[in-house]
Amino acid sequence: MSPETIPGPTPDPADGKKRADTTAITNIATLVTNDPSLGSGPLGLIQDAAIVIDGDRIGWVGPSSKAPTTDNRLDAGGRAVVPGFVDSHSHLVFAGDRTAEFNARMSGQSYSAGGIRTTVAATRAASNNELNANVARYVAEARRQGTTTIEIKSGYGLTTEDEARALTIASVHTDEVTYLGAHIVAPEFADRPEAYVDLVTGPMLDACAPHARWIDVFCERGAFDGDQARAILTAGKRAGLLPRVHANQLTHGPGVQLAVELDAASADHCTHLTDADVDALAGGSTVATLLPGAEFSTRAEWPDARRLLDAGAVVALSTDCNPGSSFTSSMPFCIALAVRDMGMTPDEALWSATAGGAAALRRTDVGRLSPGARANLALLDAPSHVHLAYRPGVPLVSAVWQDGELV
Ligand code: NIG
Ligand code: FE
Repeated sequence: MSPETIPGPTPDPADGKKRADTTAITNIATLVTNDPSLGSGPLGLIQDAAIVIDGDRIGWVGPSSKAPTTDNRLDAGGRAVVPGFVDSHSHLVFAGDRTAEFNARMSGQSYSAGGIRTTVAATRAASNNELNANVARYVAEARRQGTTTIEIKSGYGLTTEDEARALTIASVHTDEVTYLGAHIVAPEFADRPEAYVDLVTGPMLDACAPHARWIDVFCERGAFDGDQARAILTAGKRAGLLPRVHANQLTHGPGVQLAVELDAASADHCTHLTDADVDALAGGSTVATLLPGAEFSTRAEWPDARRLLDAGAVVALSTDCNPGSSFTSSMPFCIALAVRDMGMTPDEALWSATAGGAAALRRTDVGRLSPGARANLALLDAPSHVHLAYRPGVPLVSAVWQDGELV
């Protein structure tokens, strides 16, 4: 770790004095609770609703006319309220960008795992302060678009020191931190991939495990094969990390089957699936996380959400925000793409971007708006969540509460 310090979170003036006041948001045209016991359909929809924020939690939901007395009251004016988005897949600890690579792709060049090396060089050269400022900027950008829970991966350091510092910086911004030392084989190990796997499963893992909850591997041609991925995830599990996998993004491969075999929380991308892959996802507890920003930005074939849903798999939507394959932090954009091009209904896409993301992070306190859940919610400048797909590209998120605080 360089001697330079990593800035900590901004001190909360109310630290130590937990907010105890209550706020009712009334006159909500459509409230999405994601709790079928509270309203209609899988989204637990309540029309003409109210919701009470009690400190950092949801205290009450129900019809607006029955809203209890609270310290503060806010009239939603007939707009919609949805759970804050849960973005379960991002790569925000990086420096530089890859505009030239994007331009080349849009002129016909295809995407490959190799572009990651450009960002690795820029990230290694950046100071802790620069990297931290970048993460803060993209987390704030995501929050303005309704994201209240975000997972952040390392993977652009690829040395023990650079991976550990990436995780330390990510930890300043989220609890959902993922060790992705196995993003690609580090350039210095290009002709000794097995030695790099030894590093990732040995000293690098020892240095990184204390700073992460998850371990991930890019299981793909040009990155890590099935055997290497199994060794990496198994070592991570032994060190107390929970697995998730970049699987079947660019080609058919063993990633999805491996994710299910190891009970990974999530298999991410799932663009190229065999029937056996779909069956495995439907039969296991691994969430299929789809990342339409990547297909958009690489002009690739869309993942088939309909096929997964019809088979009974749990589907999440996430941004995959990174400077190479998907430089968007917008969950509403991903919802719109999933509805337009991946066969999802607006209800399914909203669920996948909230409760689905929570399932992919094995969280029960986020992704729903029922009493006891975290008070993470977004007020939309629209009468219902359907407008997120119906009005693509329009900044509909007009207010966001995170842990009960208007942010
Ligand atoms: O999820 N697939 C691997 N990792 C990223 C891409 C990273 C990059 O191109 O820099 C992804 O798409
Ligand atoms: Fe990714």
